[in-house]
Amino acid sequence: MSTRRTLLTQVSKTAAMAAVPQLPAYLIASAQPPHGVQKPGKRATDEMTVNSAPQPEHYPQPDFGSPPTELPAECKSIRGSNSLRAHARQRGLIAGAALAVRSLEKDPAMQELIADQYGILVPENDLKWRALRPTLKDYDFTASDALFAFAGQHKILVRAHTLVWHNSVPDWLRNHQPQTDVRQLFVEHIRTVVSRYRGRVHSWDVVNEAILPADSQPNGMRRSFWYESVGPDYIELAFRTAHEADPRAKLTYNDYGVEYDSDDQAERRRHILALVQRLRRDNVPLDAVGIQSHIKAGSPYSIGHGLADYIASIHSMGLEVYLTEMDVNEDDLPFDDVLRRDQAVAETYRKFLDVALASPAVKLVLTWGVSDRRTWLNDGPTHHRKQPNRPQRSLPFDAQYRPTPAFFAIRDAIDHRLLS
Ligand code: XIL
Repeated sequence: MSTRRTLLTQVSKTAAMAAVPQLPAYLIASAQPPHGVQKPGKRATDEMTVNSAPQPEHYPQPDFGSPPTELPAECKSIRGSNSLRAHARQRGLIAGAALAVRSLEKDPAMQELIADQYGILVPENDLKWRALRPTLKDYDFTASDALFAFAGQHKILVRAHTLVWHNSVPDWLRNHQPQTDVRQLFVEHIRTVVSRYRGRVHSWDVVNEAILPADSQPNGMRRSFWYESVGPDYIELAFRTAHEADPRAKLTYNDYGVEYDSDDQAERRRHILALVQRLRRDNVPLDAVGIQSHIKAGSPYSIGHGLADYIASIHSMGLEVYLTEMDVNEDDLPFDDVLRRDQAVAETYRKFLDVALASPAVKLVLTWGVSDRRTWLNDGPTHHRKQPNRPQRSLPFDAQYRPTPAFFAIRDAIDHRLLS
């Protein structure tokens, strides 16, 4: 166990801090005015956008006491050939989870659990602009280097998340000087970060959440900082730059709000498919579409043809599909009983996965977190954890690292995957 702990701290801070390198001129298109951007009076938003924004005003995180010092007895029977990792492999899938590498440092039981269960990891926040870019001039790769080191040591793949996201623009950039060339900075950032991990990344979430029809832009585009400052071609530019820097990483467009048979989500699906089609037509290097899969227990909407047809359309364009951020928000369930809530969460995973995994296009299944000890769904203040004294039970392991009914529902759904 001590070797594991040492490895996490092996990457020195100095080595991980890098100065901004020079960018070859051919990668910088001459400064194009961000044409085509329409400015409605008020910027629209939706629940997910608000929820995933950095929250100034949190509920205190639930206090679960110290993490267990070793894995509980319940984990013995789910190791090796009984793990998510092994079951997934049997069905042509890779199972994974998001995590914060810092949370592993003093938690050998969690390290062991991850090494047992997962074939792929994704840093929850450590590769976002806000984490990597303390200032205009600096990069801080301390945490992301540690994650790659940990994954490498355990022969676990890494999904890298994310190069371009509206909610992770550092304050210094949002309030940049008029003379800052944001387009150049954008290209340079992508090139630097992707090059650093070249050859070590299974897939990159190049662009995350670019569609928001409520923003009233052409093609359902979100009126994000990147859209406004780099221009409507920022998506294409990001993919081309990432591909130059690491031709082997699978490049992914990732988005939410496509899982349910509701009119709003049908509209989101149409816009995303049209975007993907345009990228394919223009030979933009794109390998996969990510479905975030933040779903709800007790949702009034069902999961069915909308999702199945969406996945089939992506498949027919020759792309892979990844379930990138699964979790089940159970805050709206009208009962407190833990067993009933756990059953409802498990059933929600099962219904979703039964539809999604029916397509051979789906290659990755990841949850957004490992244990209920740490989930963004507890971040609050009001959107996620509406009930401050009822921590969410959303993930495959509970706060003591025991497998929950959700674990078994996910594993069963994988086992029952019927590929046509
Ligand atoms: C979330 C993290 O889980 C939080 O810790 C952070 O405060 C905000 O971002 N969709 C995404 C993820 O693509 O990057 C978001 O992660 C969750 C929603």
